[in-house]
Amino acid sequence: MFSWASPGCILQTWIRAFKLKLPLLSLKMASREGAFTDFPEGVLMKKMVVVAVSVLAFTFGLCAAQEAYCADASKGGRQTDKDALTVVGFSQVGSESDWRMANTQSMRKAFSEKNGYKLIIKDAQQRQSRQIAAIRDFVAQKVDYIVVAPVTEEDWDGVLKEAKNAGIPLIIVDRMIKTSDNGLYVCWIGSDFRKEGDTAVDWMEKNLGSDKELLIAHLQGSMGSSAQIGRTEGLLAGVDRNPGWKVVERVSGDFTQARGKEVMERILKQHARIDVLYCENDNMAFGAMEAMNEAGRTYGVNGEIKIISFDATRAGLAATLQGKINYNVECNPLHGPRVEEIIRLLKDGKVPEKLSYVSERAFDARRITRADLDAREY
Ligand code: AHR
Repeated sequence: MFSWASPGCILQTWIRAFKLKLPLLSLKMASREGAFTDFPEGVLMKKMVVVAVSVLAFTFGLCAAQEAYCADASKGGRQTDKDALTVVGFSQVGSESDWRMANTQSMRKAFSEKNGYKLIIKDAQQRQSRQIAAIRDFVAQKVDYIVVAPVTEEDWDGVLKEAKNAGIPLIIVDRMIKTSDNGLYVCWIGSDFRKEGDTAVDWMEKNLGSDKELLIAHLQGSMGSSAQIGRTEGLLAGVDRNPGWKVVERVSGDFTQARGKEVMERILKQHARIDVLYCENDNMAFGAMEAMNEAGRTYGVNGEIKIISFDATRAGLAATLQGKINYNVECNPLHGPRVEEIIRLLKDGKVPEKLSYVSERAFDARRITRADLDAREY
């Protein structure tokens, strides 16, 4: 809106008008030699009033336009471009592991401004309550799409209904949720965690023996997460099939290196013999290795404790190549481009697959190559 408190704007308006060579005909007329003297006095007065009114009206008109221009410029001048960005709210689990960092990075890269997106990431610090608050905040902000990497599987229906009622499409990534109504989310993309567990157990059966006694220490991830549930179920099924296998300890290390070290220190003090460490991610395995180093216990290909790990991040693969981890099952975190593709489909009015599993491999320390490590993106 035009305001009187902007003399600078009025000045700029006239400068702009002159620059644009706008037809200030009335002024030109007034300044022309003899312009006023050619008329009788009454007519001259009328002409002067007309000129003054024209000048004022023109100034008002240009100032209003100028005010609008000034306001847009103060918003960064790229207001139109920013408005064109697709706003995506991403509720991320946290930053508990190398896998998680790679996952966040993959999302940032795929949802860059250059690609036409504004990505708002909210870190839940491994707490579901924070994720619920984040989703509510995204709804209040009226983002275009919501993406959730759920910490745990249970108790999502309430907040998902809120997002659905607001008409915001919600995509689930990485871990899964349990819901009474599959219509509350558009689709899910992530890993088959049970298959990862089965792959690990299959290797254990073939390589460590299915008929002999195996004492297993089991380090679980964050309890109630799909990654923990699937990998744990795989091991439980293996223990059921192999009567010689005994889980001597089962404890959560919350997917972090610090907790992995802490719980392993305790386990080592209590158990003089451990044959296998079944560890539900690389970071906990690194923490456990620190504990084993400090306790003087050996591990890996040439050691007393065989290590099974999950994720196969770059650092995890390096440890596998060095023979410290015997078998590492991949969990692929590069979901950014996949989720971006889903959003492009939705924009085009297409229906994405409801559930999509990413394909994953596993690495045996005796077969992994330097090329496998060099090819690792995360
Ligand atoms: O949900 C994937 C799991 O979460 C990864 O295995 C783990 O490292 C991460 O924190």
